[in-house]
Amino acid sequence: MNIEPLNILLVDDNPADSRLVREMLADSGAGDLFSITEAHTLKAAVREASAGGYDIILLDLTLPETSGIDTFLKVYEKARSTPIVVLTGLDDEMLAANAVRAGAQDYLVKGHADSSMLVRAIRFALERKRRAEERDAKKLRSESMTHMAEQRCDLRMISSSSSFKEVEEMVRTVAQTSNTSVILQGETGTGKGLVANAIHFASNRRTHPFIEINCSAIPDTLLETEMFGYEKGAFTDAKQTKKGLFELAEGGTVFLDEIGDMELRIQPKLLKFLESRTFRKIGGTKDIKVDLRVIAATNKDLEALVRENRFREDLYYRLKVMVINLPPLRDRKEDILPLARYFISTYENSLGAVKRLSPECHRILLGYNWPGNVRELKNAIERATILSGNGDILPAHLPDELSKTASAQPLAMSASDMTLKEAEKKHINMVLAKVRGNKSAASKILGISRLTLRKKLLLSDK
Ligand SMILES: Nc1ncnc2c1ncn2[C@@H]1O[C@H](COP(=O)(O)OP(=O)(O)OP(=O)(O)O)[C@@H](O)[C@H]1O
Ligand SMILES: [Mg+2]
Repeated sequence: MNIEPLNILLVDDNPADSRLVREMLADSGAGDLFSITEAHTLKAAVREASAGGYDIILLDLTLPETSGIDTFLKVYEKARSTPIVVLTGLDDEMLAANAVRAGAQDYLVKGHADSSMLVRAIRFALERKRRAEERDAKKLRSESMTHMAEQRCDLRMISSSSSFKEVEEMVRTVAQTSNTSVILQGETGTGKGLVANAIHFASNRRTHPFIEINCSAIPDTLLETEMFGYEKGAFTDAKQTKKGLFELAEGGTVFLDEIGDMELRIQPKLLKFLESRTFRKIGGTKDIKVDLRVIAATNKDLEALVRENRFREDLYYRLKVMVINLPPLRDRKEDILPLARYFISTYENSLGAVKRLSPECHRILLGYNWPGNVRELKNAIERATILSGNGDILPAHLPDELSKTASAQPLAMSASDMTLKEAEKKHINMVLAKVRGNKSAASKILGISRLTLRKKLLLSDK
């Protein structure tokens, strides 16, 4: 499995403390996902930060050359967009407030912070960065029509099976009614994101923004502010009024991904919006009207969540005006080879070689049950295209688990010739298939947090 670890720059002058941080990260259960480079002086920290290539910087503020906020500012200046989490022995509220005001993502005090706090701080910092980048990209998208037209080229949908042809037909129908809410249901990797985009770009909202909000990736407390924005003074950190994504999406489409993970507390606000097309900013007193379509997606059984009181029934019925079910790939085998050929052709363009799949590969691809659906197929083909160089794609170029499952060997029998990572990936996929893509259920069975699971899936996607 091609796991690309997170590159962490760990700045600390005390080797014992560095060791402790390494141990904390290792203890988090996701230790193998971190690649740590150490800098022991300000000079080394500044050099590394300027060189870039880090996903995050963990920064001690007391270094041989400087201390306190000066240390932060000197590294921050060079770190550009790399998020910095301060991890220091200085338990000083003023300093913490200043560092955060100056741009630190978080301020942790050594000895007080445990492994999970550290990982959470890293996760939030990365999430904030990702969302900032996404917002920039979205802004660019809505500003430039030509850019949008290019985006649409990526929206090619392959459908040979009658069940996916039905999906395409529904996309066309739904696109014509620009206010109807839509729910997309399907296992992970079945194409919900693609279909949401396709609906938007086939509708008359296409010249307006398409804004995606992933309800499970954004911490609950931030989701509401992200969606609706806030008024100045609504809470301590609300230094000025901020528009939410609903307001920024005016005229376009809001795609609420993984809606099954939306906290119950926020659900009535979404319901109110769907009923009145108005919402209030947090701390606001006036109703704001926006014209947009909501598309929601889930890999969970929403009806079951309603029965368990984890999803509001009224919201479910309000959203359920139009439901599109995306069938798993194993239930539409006619799509496997056309999709594989399509993905090969997209890589051919960049590599310039003409490739075919050997007949034995056809058998393997058709025999596998694809728990990760189209995404898993796409990744397998990308890998095979690279491994096969200038030649055709042969079974040896496909991931091992494909042929192993095709010949229906249980994990225990084939595990002996797998690396630990391969076995892990295979096991995760097996569990995911068993719970039909439900990541919460899978993480419970696997005994890891949802975050770790998401991370492992995300990194195995690359
Ligand atoms: N019918 C299709 N034709 C071409 N490409 C497809 C098709 N379906 C899915 N894909 C591609 O497969 C990948 C996975 O699809 P997508 O991200 O839309 O899945 P998803 O259902 O949103 O998954 P998740 O639940 O994990 O978010 C994407 O790269 C998408 O472009
Ligand atoms: Mg998706």
